[in-house]
Amino acid sequence: MVQIRRRLYGVIAIFISWEIIYSASQTTCTSPAVQCRCEQRNNKFIINCRDKKLTQIPVFTDTNTQYDELTFSTSYPDTSSCSVCNRITSIPPRAFENLRVRRIDLTKNALTYISNDSFAGVEPYLKELLLQGDRTNEPNYAALKNLTGLTTLHLEKFQQTTLNSNNIFGNLENLESLTLKTFKCLSFIDSSAFQNKVPKLKLLWLEDLPLVTYPAGAILNIPSLQSLNFINTQVTKLFSQSFKDLRSLKELNLSHNMIDSIENDTFTGITETLQFLNLAVNRLGYKTNTRESLNFLSSKHWTHLEKLSLAYNKLNALPDGPFRNMQKLTCLILESCQLPAISSGLLQGLQNLHTLEVSQNMITDISVNAFVHTPQLIDLRVYRQHQAFSQYLALNFPSTAVEPIRTSLTHLNLEHNRVNVSQIWEITELLTNLEELKLRNTNILAVPDFVFRNHTQLQILDLSENQISSLDQKSFHGLKDTLTSLSLSDNNLTTIDERAFKNFSKLNYLYLANNMWNCDCKLLWLYDWIRNKMLTKPFIEYIVECVCHSPPKLNENYIQSVIRSDLACTPDILTCRIISLTTVQLKLAKSQRAYRTCLQVAVNTVLSLNIIMHVTHSTNPVAAFELIKKTTSDKSKKGKCPTSRR
Ligand SMILES: *[C@@H]1O[C@H](CO)[C@@H](O)[C@H](O)[C@H]1NC(C)=O
Ligand SMILES: *[C@@H]1O[C@H](CO)[C@@H](O)[C@H](O)[C@H]1NC(C)=O
Ligand SMILES: *[C@@H]1O[C@H](CO)[C@@H](O)[C@H](O)[C@H]1NC(C)=O
Ligand SMILES: *[C@@H]1O[C@H](CO)[C@@H](O)[C@H](O)[C@H]1NC(C)=O
Ligand SMILES: *[C@@H]1O[C@H](CO)[C@@H](O)[C@H](O)[C@H]1NC(C)=O
Ligand SMILES: *[C@@H]1O[C@H](CO)[C@@H](O)[C@H](O)[C@H]1NC(C)=O
Ligand SMILES: *[C@@H]1O[C@H](CO)[C@@H](O)[C@H](O)[C@H]1NC(C)=O
Ligand SMILES: *[C@@H]1O[C@H](CO)[C@@H](O)[C@H](O)[C@H]1NC(C)=O
Repeated sequence: MVQIRRRLYGVIAIFISWEIIYSASQTTCTSPAVQCRCEQRNNKFIINCRDKKLTQIPVFTDTNTQYDELTFSTSYPDTSSCSVCNRITSIPPRAFENLRVRRIDLTKNALTYISNDSFAGVEPYLKELLLQGDRTNEPNYAALKNLTGLTTLHLEKFQQTTLNSNNIFGNLENLESLTLKTFKCLSFIDSSAFQNKVPKLKLLWLEDLPLVTYPAGAILNIPSLQSLNFINTQVTKLFSQSFKDLRSLKELNLSHNMIDSIENDTFTGITETLQFLNLAVNRLGYKTNTRESLNFLSSKHWTHLEKLSLAYNKLNALPDGPFRNMQKLTCLILESCQLPAISSGLLQGLQNLHTLEVSQNMITDISVNAFVHTPQLIDLRVYRQHQAFSQYLALNFPSTAVEPIRTSLTHLNLEHNRVNVSQIWEITELLTNLEELKLRNTNILAVPDFVFRNHTQLQILDLSENQISSLDQKSFHGLKDTLTSLSLSDNNLTTIDERAFKNFSKLNYLYLANNMWNCDCKLLWLYDWIRNKMLTKPFIEYIVECVCHSPPKLNENYIQSVIRSDLACTPDILTCRIISLTTVQLKLAKSQRAYRTCLQVAVNTVLSLNIIMHVTHSTNPVAAFELIKKTTSDKSKKGKCPTSRR
């Protein structure tokens, strides 16, 4: 629920920021159509016709102004239920002839008719054109014929069965980027389709096409290609030499296909130029075993490859060093590949690896030598192992495994795992350069005292969905100058010691939902803290979701919505004497005798570890520490605050 709400905030925020781009700019120019608005951004004029319920292209008055963009699109994800979205179905002859505009965006409409002369008059100015059909018509290529200045063309949701040299556009000699997306019947692309037509094409994006064979011939005829996205087709096999002449190719995205076999020499010719290879969401390892299905990778030298994704394939039996010929690799994505372990050989040769994503596998064991090959690792994502596969196996992650990445690692995500909690805290203690630590749903019962004492960078800490029942000044000691976001949602907390977050100057996001908060005087500090934030910041910048559970009369109320005086305690609160640190140290030095005292100690970095070790737990109900050199049990005075004996 909380998560959903938070996601929703995220979505709303993205949506708002999108709309802000299209509305917040000053309007110092005039729109050539009364229905639309002109906006100025970075000294460019944009004719904004988004979300104006238009059913046809408006009439534009004659103008000499140069516009950067004319847009009829929308950021509503679903136009069918959108009441303000445009529903333009046709482009009449000379629709834009009075305009000098660089880009026209007609996506999120459903065009059924595009006249041969649609763009007459605007040809010299038009560089980018985005059109969306109604899924039943061919795009009218004749209308595009004269757009020789076009650099970007995006065609979506049209109907066509084959692409060949006759039925596609004419000579788009300046085209650099071409997208053909969701052509529901396109089953064949002839090898001559692009031949000599797009000599400058750098980016080709083919998505959601029912092709069963990879159109190697057609694509090899575009030698200028630098980035190829071939996504969401029915292709199952890649054959030798499929890319051999694409000497400029740097990015290859083959995700969301049904590829189960890749011949050894498929990538010949590009293994030494490719920087990015995405084979995610395919069928590798399903038909043949993992070792065989990855021969195409391990048998070649990928001298420039920086990012590789094999996510959502079946790699349950990887040989040692499958990536050892990828010295430049910085990012390896092996999400959801049924990996059983991070073995000592898996990451062999990856001395430049920054990011390892191995979430949603079946990892039960991380070898103590797993990271000896990757001294530059920054970001390690091991969340959600085998939740769906076996609820009895725990993840064994020995703390010595992180020794080689102690200083490099800044982001660690172990969420949603059955772990050995003592290992996790040992690891946390070692990784003192962490900036983000995610331990959501890892069966944590308590935060060990001073576990963050050496952390100097930690900003984001997620401890939600655990069973933490108590927190005090020692829990987050060390984080007061860095922590910005802390999630404690879904734990067993009833209160938090006031001193736990004393002087946490950067803390803004405090997620406290779904605990059993006891809203009494001990949470006054939180009340004041939130009220103070409310005065200066919008909610989205300081989320605190503290809902009272008790006392009964405050049940279900947000703490900040109650009256301050309702946060009351039964009046037997003790106050402690505040003794300065030097006094404490003096006393420790002089006194050879056992004593027990109650102090409000401000634990800070000047406090020597020696003393920290002797500060044990906070006495209730006062926010204070017992400073114990040698403890005398003083049961009679339990709960009270005795004065020190000398
Ligand atoms: C549009 O152009 C195509 C190809 O040049 C031609 O066959 C067709 O007759 C034209 N349509 C009209 C209405 O002029
Ligand atoms: C393309 O340009 C030629 C020459 O300027 C012109 O004769 C022809 O009518 C134009 N065709 C279209 C479809 O605008
Ligand atoms: C590759 O394609 C997938 C699927 O559309 C997309 O999510 C991903 O962002 C693409 N990657 C790049 C680098 O273009
Ligand atoms: C592919 O390469 C592997 C390892 O280099 C080799 O064992 C295998 O026989 C090759 N397969 C084919 C079909 O050439
Ligand atoms: C958990 O890890 C600790 C070392 O950190 C080890 O001593 C202990 O045996 C482990 N517990 C289990 C159940 O494996
Ligand atoms: C933390 O700091 C203390 C003293 O500053 C030092 O003795 C200890 O070794 C450090 N621990 C780690 C894990 O760095
Ligand atoms: C935390 O609360 C849950 C649900 O109320 C309970 O089942 C669990 O035993 C509690 N855990 C601890 C450590 O108190
Ligand atoms: C918090 O900051 C105030 C003022 O900067 C300082 O007087 C106080 O001692 C600090 N408290 C703690 C617990 O560090």
